[in-house]
Amino acid sequence: MKTRITELFDIEAPIVLSGMSWISTPELVAAVAEAGGLGILATGVCHPRQSREYIKETRERTDKPFAANVTLYFPESKHNAKVLIDEQVPVLNYSLGKGDWIAEAVHAYGGKVVATVTTTKHALAAQRDGADAIIVTGHEAAAHGGDVSSLVLVPRLADLVDIPVVAAGGFADGRGLAAALALGADGIAMGTRFMSCKESPVPENQKANAKKMDIHDTVYTNRVDGLPARFMRAAGALRMMKSQVNPLTALISSRRIAKMMEMSWAKSFAGIMLAGPAKATQMARMAIAFEAFEAGMMQGDNERGVLPLGQVTGLIDDHPTVAELFERLLTGAQEASARTTASLATDQGSESGTQT
Ligand SMILES: Cc1cc2nc3c(=O)[nH]c(=O)nc-3n(C[C@H](O)[C@H](O)[C@H](O)COP(=O)(O)O)c2cc1C
Repeated sequence: MKTRITELFDIEAPIVLSGMSWISTPELVAAVAEAGGLGILATGVCHPRQSREYIKETRERTDKPFAANVTLYFPESKHNAKVLIDEQVPVLNYSLGKGDWIAEAVHAYGGKVVATVTTTKHALAAQRDGADAIIVTGHEAAAHGGDVSSLVLVPRLADLVDIPVVAAGGFADGRGLAAALALGADGIAMGTRFMSCKESPVPENQKANAKKMDIHDTVYTNRVDGLPARFMRAAGALRMMKSQVNPLTALISSRRIAKMMEMSWAKSFAGIMLAGPAKATQMARMAIAFEAFEAGMMQGDNERGVLPLGQVTGLIDDHPTVAELFERLLTGAQEASARTTASLATDQGSESGTQT
């Protein structure tokens, strides 16, 4: 299958594994690369040394192109971005920040840059800042999708920018892939679907929980980590939706995160304070949520933790390997496309056909 993103990223299928912290590990990224797609290695919760090791391990597992992501939300995240640039990752994915300096540095070594956005404003900014493509995340998505559904967001942004668009949020099967291409996208990115693949490190109990969930069993709230995001409707998420930010807990959590990521806590703290009270409160929530994310995603604990989950969970009822999933996506897209073409065909030759 050929689209602008298969050409741009030098891959065989227009299918991207989203960068999910703790989940989009070298093993899963390499499995996606070997199947012909683009895996985004998640470095959001890694300290720079671990990011470097992850990149090395991914290269040991595959010689195909892959991406790595950086979330520019926290003041110290630029250290991770610099590692990704220094390692010359083939594709660098950034979100929640201004990426002009990233585009310049990545283009200097011949790499590609893809920005993740949820609005028209940020799509235009990414194009202006030099991104080669955008990932457009609609409301259906797990975690930080926008407030507009993919059905509307994707065609709007595909019309708005000249660079290729990857549709994310609400895609899990071949029908979705064909639909995204019909809406003007050049490919899809998926989180929820890949999370339940065999190679995903999410605990089996959590994969089984997600399998039981239907399309209505998620919540969209800004009260878990301070930004609007979607989670499995379970005890931990419902509790956090009612909770207030406790400044002392936030302080302790942020200190632990800074230590884990080998960041200067004093510098991070000063940066957060300088960002103003609204952003400081958001970041305090994010610091507290960090441990809940880890408990939900890595320990399978939905009482203490939360699990980001997209509405598309209601379309998923098995745990294929990545290779099996790719096969299914590509065949399903061809079938959906053939069905659509047949439905759209004029009724020439049909005896009972009526035309208006
Ligand atoms: C379990 C899980 C963890 C995620 N973690 C992150 C994350 O750490 N950072 C991020 O930017 N997006 C994260 N996401 C969101 C994905 O990157 C992606 O935007 C989303 O899953 C796409 O929508 P879909 O779930 O409908 O495929 C996560 C998604 C899931 C399912």
